[in-house]
Amino acid sequence: MRIEEKFVLITGGARRVGAELARAFAAAGARLLLHCRNSRVEAEALVNTLPGGAARHRVLQADLARPGEALRLFSEAGRVDILINNASMYRLSSLADAPEALDREHFEVNFWSPLALLKAFAAQHDLNEGAVVNLLDQEISGISPRGGGYSLSRRALAEATLELARELGPRNLRFNAVAPGPVLPPVGLEHSKMKKTLPTLPLRRKVELSDLAEAVLFLCRNDSITGEILRVDCGQHLG
Ligand SMILES: NC(=O)c1ccc[n+]([C@@H]2O[C@H](COP(=O)([O-])OP(=O)(O)OC[C@H]3O[C@@H](n4cnc5c(N)ncnc54)[C@H](OP(=O)(O)O)[C@@H]3O)[C@@H](O)[C@H]2O)c1
Repeated sequence: MRIEEKFVLITGGARRVGAELARAFAAAGARLLLHCRNSRVEAEALVNTLPGGAARHRVLQADLARPGEALRLFSEAGRVDILINNASMYRLSSLADAPEALDREHFEVNFWSPLALLKAFAAQHDLNEGAVVNLLDQEISGISPRGGGYSLSRRALAEATLELARELGPRNLRFNAVAPGPVLPPVGLEHSKMKKTLPTLPLRRKVELSDLAEAVLFLCRNDSITGEILRVDCGQHLG
């Protein structure tokens, strides 16, 4: 699939991984529908640095923890040729102890809203070529000791990716995912987690943002790949 002139909806695209994906797709000639929740100022500043600027790329805002917001977001986006479900929430929790409200919020942001976007994407009946990449986490490869609602919601989205790939392949809609290892420390844990984790990885280093973006672009471009979950994790899934 060619990326040039395609409408690409990237959720959580204002900062961090999402911003890198936005830069990579814009450089490849896409027209961005850049979603944010709180980071509107950052999203607008980012768009102004991209080729074509605000005349070519749009910023959209929605809180995906609120049921119904994903559908509103999609209808505001208009046509979408490529959907990148990147937004996510992560709170350290364990299934045994976490309050139900936290489990529900993990699922709303990391599963139900992305699923609503996937369904809205598939409901564009005039779309005869399309690609989706869901950002997951290498944690889906094993049972994390304190993965809680976060891990479980990522696994659910992994399963949905495979099921939709099978169901909607005949319409030339492809559904893939990348499962990153440590790229950036979680917000608020900037100085702790990576230092402990990186020496345990087979490659002993973090995932480069540019490698992750290249993997996402590759999955969009390659017309023969669907139902694939590509681990971009410096070998972390190997244990
Ligand atoms: N960073 C890593 O090392 C790593 C490792 C494994 C997997 N991943 C996965 O890769 C993706 C990107 O990672 P990241 O670290 O860049 O993610 P992040 O910074 O934790 O979150 C990305 C964006 O999600 C948006 N978001 C959070 N809650 C939201 C809500 N209720 N409604 C709408 N948007 C919401 C935020 O947008 P606003 O800022 O606009 O509020 C945030 O900027 C995620 O899916 C993550 O699970 C990342």
